[in-house]
Amino acid sequence: MDVNYQSENSYPRQKVFNHSQRFIEGWYWAIPSRMLKKGEIKTVEIVGRELIIYRSTDGQLICCDAYCPHLGAHLHQGIVEDSSIRCSSHGWKFNAEGICIEIPCLDEPLPLKIKTWPIDEKYGIIWIWTGKIAQQPLPYVPELELQACASSLGKSFVKNCHPNVVMINAIDVHHFNTVNPWSREILFDKQELNYNAIKFDRTIQPGEGFWWINWIRWFCKHNIHYSICYWYGCIGIVTIGPDFLHLHIMFALRLLEGKKADIQPIFITKKYSGIFGSIVNKLILLLTKFLSIFLIKGKRRILRQISFNFQTPTRADLSVIQFVQHINKQKALNWRTWQEPIPPPPPTGANNRDVLTND
Ligand code: FES
Repeated sequence: MDVNYQSENSYPRQKVFNHSQRFIEGWYWAIPSRMLKKGEIKTVEIVGRELIIYRSTDGQLICCDAYCPHLGAHLHQGIVEDSSIRCSSHGWKFNAEGICIEIPCLDEPLPLKIKTWPIDEKYGIIWIWTGKIAQQPLPYVPELELQACASSLGKSFVKNCHPNVVMINAIDVHHFNTVNPWSREILFDKQELNYNAIKFDRTIQPGEGFWWINWIRWFCKHNIHYSICYWYGCIGIVTIGPDFLHLHIMFALRLLEGKKADIQPIFITKKYSGIFGSIVNKLILLLTKFLSIFLIKGKRRILRQISFNFQTPTRADLSVIQFVQHINKQKALNWRTWQEPIPPPPPTGANNRDVLTND
């Protein structure tokens, strides 16, 4: 692999990476699908914005801002009527597009609209797009893009660490090389899948590797494939395994106040059909879950104590630098308002060391 980390290490000033008040426009996980039945309403807070989501009586998902544009009652107290919601305070009714269609004490509704947001579900999770129109499909496992999948959910948890920094752990080659001194140097192949997704791949041969991949090697003597696909710098899909069995874990993260990460693990496999197939699906998902517990456990202490201040990039940090560059190229939005930030003035004499520090 031809690597020149010094030429790669030239990027614009920090824009969104590891920023406490900004995030990338994209799909963010809201709640498990099973928690929202037909006719139910839930309140969610996604990157600082309070929203309600509800499921119409025929199963359609709708997401809108949480407060009524009349007097500001919380719409969580409202009533779902077909695909519309009626505010419980004075009975104003808004359709699935957020348009006011009825005001009980007036003959005609007023020209009002609640802001609505794209919403969808996949892998047993409800996702919300943080812009007007979704620019990407829902996050997916690249090698299963066109296949039917089975999935299950892990328990969500919070880490005292920015989502971008949590994500870096999966490509922190320096860490892998350090903790496994007998391994050869590990470097990743990078592939940008689209504006919002980047993938890092590595095939690990016998005699080299990550300590936890050596754990898999107890069961299998073949080469092990390892890859991680990032969406929006805060969803990481880890794929691990020999050719005949790839395990896929999606770690969906969203930024919380104070640079914390709200993490939802999702276990995914290609779906096998039939009674035997459903047993196989369950076994693979269980194995994937065990692997995720193993991975999370190994990082728990590091993620609790890391204060990201990347001052001395080396050759082994190339993937981390590429990841940061990829994040900073994407469309940033402000925490809570979901508006684009005002562009900063051009840098004057900034050097590379300014780039990877915290805000
Ligand atoms: S506050 Fe909602 S209808 Fe009055």
